[in-house]
Amino acid sequence: MQKNSAVLVYGAYGHTGRFIVAEALRRGLRPILSGRREAALTAMAQNLPGTEIRVADVAVTTDLDAAVAGTAAVINAAGPFLDTAEPLAAAAARAGAHYLDVSAEQGSVQALFETFGSNRTPMSTAVVPAMSFYGGLADLLVTAAAREWEEIDSVTVAIGLDRWWPTPGTRITGRRNTATRLKVSESMLVPVSPQPSRHQWAFPAPIGEQTVREQPFSEMITMNRHLRARRIDNLLSETALADISDSETGAPQAVDDFGRSAQNFTVDVRLDRAGHRRELRASGRDIYQVTAPLVVEAAIRLIDGRFTGTGALAPGGAFDAADFLTALSANWLTISSPDEESAASGLAGQVPAESIR
Ligand SMILES: NC(=O)c1ccc[n+]([C@@H]2O[C@H](COP(=O)([O-])OP(=O)(O)OC[C@H]3O[C@@H](n4cnc5c(N)ncnc54)[C@H](OP(=O)(O)O)[C@@H]3O)[C@@H](O)[C@H]2O)c1
Repeated sequence: MQKNSAVLVYGAYGHTGRFIVAEALRRGLRPILSGRREAALTAMAQNLPGTEIRVADVAVTTDLDAAVAGTAAVINAAGPFLDTAEPLAAAAARAGAHYLDVSAEQGSVQALFETFGSNRTPMSTAVVPAMSFYGGLADLLVTAAAREWEEIDSVTVAIGLDRWWPTPGTRITGRRNTATRLKVSESMLVPVSPQPSRHQWAFPAPIGEQTVREQPFSEMITMNRHLRARRIDNLLSETALADISDSETGAPQAVDDFGRSAQNFTVDVRLDRAGHRRELRASGRDIYQVTAPLVVEAAIRLIDGRFTGTGALAPGGAFDAADFLTALSANWLTISSPDEESAASGLAGQVPAESIR
């Protein structure tokens, strides 16, 4: 029997939503464009003949039920996710559709884990929040590096960006998401210190050596959900933080055929356990665009059954992390490992050195 390939992309006309629609079409899915503004959906559909639109307001349950009806999965690209994640995930669950989003907000991910992560709400579908650059990518890298390690002494995620040109949605979300960020210390989620720690980190060219500062995103919540790590630190380039705190920094501009900006990223993960260290590195271009292949790959795996569990799942808990990253590395990520133990796991070894187009 042919699988249902209909995927509702909510927030389809946003910057990230457009990348997701393009990637879904490229991967053979049938994206249905959704969001709250009919005019924006109609204008977008004019350039995508045959594409259906469904207008829905997240505050109106009947709208959401009509929008998700008959779909195999919902990809939510409309943030702040503190406002949109729960109603859309609930509508997807009622319709028997999988739910994914691209949230970097710790609070929205925690809320989905609380609502859909317990046996109180038995369901046959999956709810996978933060299936994005911030969130899923680091979670998958750490999961792939951890392999058989059931306990980890410490995990460090260092994110290097040469620039961060924020979209309007990023700026709005930053203003909305004012809760104190959480980190894992002594196996528990605790508030980060008001004086975040700063370090030097050697990223590869073109990013190079940078000052990085403690700045946890949604990966802290997803990793804590399924990995037993005593301590997790998330570090981010200070240059990127300076870009987004400057109101004059413009939005991303397309410089290649995929619509990607000139932004380069590297995500380094370092795991320590009992004197052993494992490291993996993923590099690529444009944190907004790369979110599209990440979330679309996840949607495809949910639709064809390549996942474990039901209800709210962390990306690394739902998917075979090494297999997932290997699939992404064909086009969008360059994955490498400076340490022999991780390279021997096969993931880094399989990946061609020049995989970014
Ligand atoms: N975790 C990650 O790595 C990652 C990656 C990419 C994006 N994101 C997040 O994704 C979100 C969207 O980013 P973007 O770059 O696409 O921004 P954008 O271009 O400004 O688009 C924002 C989209 O969200 C919609 N939206 C916002 N609030 C809504 C609400 N209450 N109800 C319905 N629709 C709503 C907007 O619709 P209207 O125009 O009608 O307001 C628009 O479609 C942001 O929160 C951003 O932080 C996260």
